[in-house]
Amino acid sequence: MDNLLTGIKSTGRPHLGHVIGIISPTIFLINKEMFHKQFILIANLHTLTNYNFIKNNKTNSYKILAAWLACGLDYKKVICYRQSDIPEITELLWFFSAIFPYNRLKLVHSFKEYKTNNKIINTATLTYPILMAADILISKAEIILVGKDQLQHLEIARKIAKKINQIKRIFTIPKAKIFTKLIKGTDGKKMSKSKKNIIDIFSKKKQIKKQIFKIKTQNKFLNEENKLLTDNLYNIYLNFAGSKKIKKKLNVGYQHAKEEFYSFLISKFKKERKLYKYYINKKSKLEKILKIGATKMKEIIQPTMKQVRNVFDCS
Ligand code: TRP
Repeated sequence: MDNLLTGIKSTGRPHLGHVIGIISPTIFLINKEMFHKQFILIANLHTLTNYNFIKNNKTNSYKILAAWLACGLDYKKVICYRQSDIPEITELLWFFSAIFPYNRLKLVHSFKEYKTNNKIINTATLTYPILMAADILISKAEIILVGKDQLQHLEIARKIAKKINQIKRIFTIPKAKIFTKLIKGTDGKKMSKSKKNIIDIFSKKKQIKKQIFKIKTQNKFLNEENKLLTDNLYNIYLNFAGSKKIKKKLNVGYQHAKEEFYSFLISKFKKERKLYKYYINKKSKLEKILKIGATKMKEIIQPTMKQVRNVFDCS
């Protein structure tokens, strides 16, 4: 039986994209007992590449954990840990940096995109994929659950694993498992906090309503098939309902369809929203869960770390 790893950055409250793109599908697999070990990572070091998210990093990590628990994660069944609690990950980042050509990192599309939109680029933005390779390889998980936009990062992890394995066979070569297509946000681009296009499913109802009404739609409601496919409301709704049903709602008009979608989401996530509220106020419980995860993780990674330090003659 394979092991599974997935990770979410601590950039605030997890939004609808996280819940339907990563959290729910992972919990579904865990409940089906398809994997031997399951690693759930809260990537609070990856978050640091964006200044805006440094300030509330600790609280934001709790929010991610609270969302996992609210959606039904049984933390006893998994190894759920916070990246910064495992300094061995950053140790690997350095070893891996020593063998990976930096020119390749400059070609990574997430880096190129960042470069076109920002004047100042810190080193961590460039080495982001190496830190992710450290996350992935340290777990020795065979299956990595990621969004489509992370495939290039996974490819880098595979390259590094192969390179080190040529010296000594230490690492498993990981494979990506992609669950859904990218979950689109209110503007039709990938749902992401930094793009300000999220549906913040754990926030106040008023806020959710505002975000749904922000969904950019076309001037008139539409029944032409090709226009429908590019419609944002249609695409977001499609994650929950069949095409026929949505078309019916859209045909009455966008205002109506948005109202309807809002009520649908509130009732669908009623339990999760309530549980989220419960967990987020239990900081010491959340911290305890993370400590348990870190302890389990530390034990698992020791033999691997010993081997890697040997490879780099740093034992
Ligand atoms: N970079 C991933 C993202 O932005 C998050 C992440 C960090 C991750 N480390 C990981 C995902 C390891 C899977 C495995 O979505």
